[in-house]
Amino acid sequence: MKFFVDTADIADIKELAATGLLDGVTTNPTLIAKSGRDVFEVLEEICAVVSGPVSAEVTATDAENMIEEGKRLSRIAKNIAIKVPLTLDGLKACRHFSDKGVMVNVTLCFSAAQAILAAKAGARFISPFVGRLDDIGQDGLGLIREICEIYRQYDAFKTEVLVASVRHPIHIVESARLGAHVATIPPKVIKQLFHHPLTDKGLEMFLRDWEKTGQKIA
Ligand code: E4P
Repeated sequence: MKFFVDTADIADIKELAATGLLDGVTTNPTLIAKSGRDVFEVLEEICAVVSGPVSAEVTATDAENMIEEGKRLSRIAKNIAIKVPLTLDGLKACRHFSDKGVMVNVTLCFSAAQAILAAKAGARFISPFVGRLDDIGQDGLGLIREICEIYRQYDAFKTEVLVASVRHPIHIVESARLGAHVATIPPKVIKQLFHHPLTDKGLEMFLRDWEKTGQKIA
């Protein structure tokens, strides 16, 4: 499973990239606004740190202007994935870019029917939002199960399932069990993945016992 980080905070991206565990980045208009930075400037900086796909979202709502914005965004770097919303116009723009070999991430997916459309439009990634479905009392992981199952039936569907709107480690573990290709994860949740109290306790015990030997590995 590939790990993308869901942020436009360059300090967090650099810290996580240094672990060697980061495969890409996703941003959206909210995350860019939160960074307080110019969209082109921050995306350029992110692409210089991470060589994997970096999603940059269009803000136009009609296909023609989405394509214009997408062209501008894709000039930033080769690893930019154009992010379009799951609307009729978004999928038109998706087809345009996919035919040109440009990666497209179709976002704001909340149903299996929408995921089928995105695969047919040649999307490189489909982003089902698990957390936002859970928030309204629906089954986010159930949607991941459904999409993975459907995509497996068709060799012609090359779209990767990118689990988005992740809220906690269980979303990651369960999505991995279902065979989702990618998860885009907030920095805080990536850090949570490392922790287990028995790891901390065990390490403390090993170090205490080691100190008693007076030895050094040198
Ligand atoms: C990523 O591509 C999505 O925009 C993001 O995961 C949405 O997450 P949220 O529901 O926490 O805003």
